[in-house]
Amino acid sequence: MVGVAGFEPATPASRKQCSTGLSHTPTENAAYSLAPSPPQEAELRNSVLVNPTLETRILPAGEAAVSAAARTLASGGLVAFPTETVYGLGADAANPTAIAHLYQAKGRPAFNPLIAHVGDLAAAKKIARFDAAAEKLAEAFWPGPLTLVLPKTENCVVADLATAGLDTVAVRVPAHPVAREILRAFGGPVVAPSANLSGHVSPTDAAHVESDLAGLIDLIVDGGPVEVGVESSIVGCFEAPMLLRPGGVPREDIERVLGRALAQPPQEMESDSAQPLAPGMLASHYAPRTRVRLYAENVAPDEALLAFGLHRLHGADDAVAIMNLSANGDLNEAAANLFGYLRSLDAKGAKTIAVMPIPNEGLGEAINDRLRRAAVGRA
Ligand code: TXA
Ligand code: MG
Repeated sequence: MVGVAGFEPATPASRKQCSTGLSHTPTENAAYSLAPSPPQEAELRNSVLVNPTLETRILPAGEAAVSAAARTLASGGLVAFPTETVYGLGADAANPTAIAHLYQAKGRPAFNPLIAHVGDLAAAKKIARFDAAAEKLAEAFWPGPLTLVLPKTENCVVADLATAGLDTVAVRVPAHPVAREILRAFGGPVVAPSANLSGHVSPTDAAHVESDLAGLIDLIVDGGPVEVGVESSIVGCFEAPMLLRPGGVPREDIERVLGRALAQPPQEMESDSAQPLAPGMLASHYAPRTRVRLYAENVAPDEALLAFGLHRLHGADDAVAIMNLSANGDLNEAAANLFGYLRSLDAKGAKTIAVMPIPNEGLGEAINDRLRRAAVGRA
């Protein structure tokens, strides 16, 4: 018997509740045993460390890994795999039990819906209704780091639990060859949030996934470090297309294809208490444990420095540690390094991570968005 109580599709009234306290029997070997009441992230992390009961296999990307991934997904298991943006934690989008396990493994509030990953536009059209703007965007950017939020089709197979009871669904066709092979071998939509504990920094290599989720998921497919490094841009295809999350496709490129400016999401989405349009926009997402200080113009001896460009800050010689996102000021390189460097600096025992200013153009908008959230998280 598998319990999914607490994972009913969220109604507006229940959306603020985090329901991660169920027990279940996983598809292969041992049972999870988490607290019966919804644990906070810290409790969840403790129970992960104290009681990693599921054996997590790690396989190098290749034919064997792809077929193991497809088999595991088909039997309701959880598989972490590389996409070009960040590693995703995949589950069969049509299997509510698997999705309940996924929310539980991440400690993710059930009101925060998931992105359905599919192999191509034809597969996307089975689950989502495309208007002219959505067609244009799909044509221009798929496969690639763009997610579209669209109305569900009538016979959309994506479980209500994955869309948090919304009548829209987020869809994306990833470009990473390993992700594409897994989707082809599995043959249906795969929901995949970033493969980290909820609220934690997104994983850009398999070791990051392992450090967050070992003992909680069935399989990690190791395809090496990812290319883009920040999550997909999310565009809500509403009356006026709206940028719900800046990400791997720069705003400028999206606007060029649309031939118009993207609408801004309402201000209240930035707050933790708001009923979120894209709940991943919660203000304190992407937080390292160390406090983050933005727009640093100097660095103190007890601080670590996340640098950008050639300019050397006053005090840099005495900093606890320095990592440079891109010495020659390349924003694509900076995006690819961002989450890995935040994790590394987080482990240095510094009082603060001081971050140099980063231009807000191209992928800089997504980088600054993630950094602002990291700073709010531990302010
Ligand atoms: O690059 C990415 O997008 C990665 C890789 C693994 O594909 N995935 C990812 O997923 O970043 P996640 O779960 O960390 O972020 C998904 C975001 C959340 O902000 C969620 O609120 C939003 O998508 N979302 C999902 N469905 C939605 C919907 N129907 N309406 C509005 N926002 C939605
Ligand atoms: Mg995430």
